[in-house]
Amino acid sequence: MSTVLSDDKIPNNVNLSSDRRLQRALEAWQPKFLDWWMEMGPAGFQVQDVYLRTAVSVEASGWAHFDYVKMPDYRWGIFLEPKQEGRTIGFGDYQGQPVWDEVPGELRNMLRRLIVTQGDTEPASVEQQRLLGQTAPSLYDLRNLFQVNVEEGRHLWAMVYLLHTYFGRDGREEAEELLGRRSGDRDRPRILGAFNEPTTHWLSFFMFTMFTDRDGKYQLSALSESGFDPLARTCRFMLTEEAHHMFVGETGIQRVVKRACELMKQDPSGDVRALGGIDLPTIQKYLNLWYTLSLDLFGGEISSNAADAFAAGLKGRHKEDKYEEHKVLDQSYPMEVLEDGKIVAKDIAMRTALNEVLRAEYIKDCARGVERWNKTIREEGVDFTLALPSNRFHRHIGIYADSHFTPGGEPVSRAVWEAHRHEWLPTDEDEAYVKSLMQPVLEPGKMASWIAAPAKGINGQPEQFEYVRLV
Ligand SMILES: [Fe+2]
Ligand SMILES: [Fe+2]
Repeated sequence: MSTVLSDDKIPNNVNLSSDRRLQRALEAWQPKFLDWWMEMGPAGFQVQDVYLRTAVSVEASGWAHFDYVKMPDYRWGIFLEPKQEGRTIGFGDYQGQPVWDEVPGELRNMLRRLIVTQGDTEPASVEQQRLLGQTAPSLYDLRNLFQVNVEEGRHLWAMVYLLHTYFGRDGREEAEELLGRRSGDRDRPRILGAFNEPTTHWLSFFMFTMFTDRDGKYQLSALSESGFDPLARTCRFMLTEEAHHMFVGETGIQRVVKRACELMKQDPSGDVRALGGIDLPTIQKYLNLWYTLSLDLFGGEISSNAADAFAAGLKGRHKEDKYEEHKVLDQSYPMEVLEDGKIVAKDIAMRTALNEVLRAEYIKDCARGVERWNKTIREEGVDFTLALPSNRFHRHIGIYADSHFTPGGEPVSRAVWEAHRHEWLPTDEDEAYVKSLMQPVLEPGKMASWIAAPAKGINGQPEQFEYVRLV
């Protein structure tokens, strides 16, 4: 197992050329991927040089190689972290047994579903974001969008590699399907709800990369514990790329927030919209929307699927090592549940509560990010606090899905919900306003009116750097 990518048609560190059948199958899938990329990837900018990061090896020094590349020429490769000899399964019923290098027959369907569900989100997000390049607030942001897009494409490759290698004909069919579904399509939608919501402007893009990519981080983290070793090794490498996506989201919103504060102070009546910015209450509404859509991605609070995947050793907890006990057969998890319209505290058997355990880690992580936005607001001397809504608010999956709650988590009637909805979630008017701001700014170093400049450039580049060569 080499850590350096071989220079085949498909860059890889899995010695692909030693398996001719697999190599041919993936080489047959490659042009279909490129067709999908040209049809559903970024609209425009496919012939321009973009300053992108490409992985050339999995070592710390090699996975972040920066250069100009045209997106269709991006070296989408297959990367697995090096195998750790003697690794054992870290949790569940098979804890302590050697990890699997092949798929155990009885776990095949469950494992395939986990891989396909993860794999489906990768092209979905590229599809959701395909028009954003047309309205980029700066060349810096345009480049970041494309970096995220090509890496989501690579994550699709990662999952397709697993399907082709370990699932035979079913796997090849699933790989085709991953290119066949379309985000938001009525007949062939993507698998998960949040991945069918259009990302119609950059405020939603930053919220998506902040909150929805962060769900990805936690799903990948749980899968990186997997007893199916190729999946664990694949996900560990994907996590290194995911960190940049969340950076784009967190700093993107931070810059919108900063700009809102600057404009508030400039306008005599503090009217941010009058000066072409996005006001903090509107930012809060989009936060409410994307955060709650992302909470749903963790699945139901009480879930036998989660219990099964844990028992089987396929999907663990975030940083399984930090827990003392890894079978959790006799443990319980304190949870608030809904009974006859009332919220009551209950102890839930730990294995069935594992979606909630992962969601709780995610919520803490999101809260840290929101606190950094609030720090920016305080530094600007503005009196406003952004907040995460309750995990009961605006849910479509799980025990709260059929009831209504305020952002504070109080149960309310449907009528009350409808009467206040416009205060809590973006309205058509908010959406129209935000969209009206989306005019491309493509001069090096320039920023749109509604966003502050980044604190520093990508890979230490200066402010005026030409991240995308337009001519
Ligand atoms: Fe991804
Ligand atoms: Fe991502």
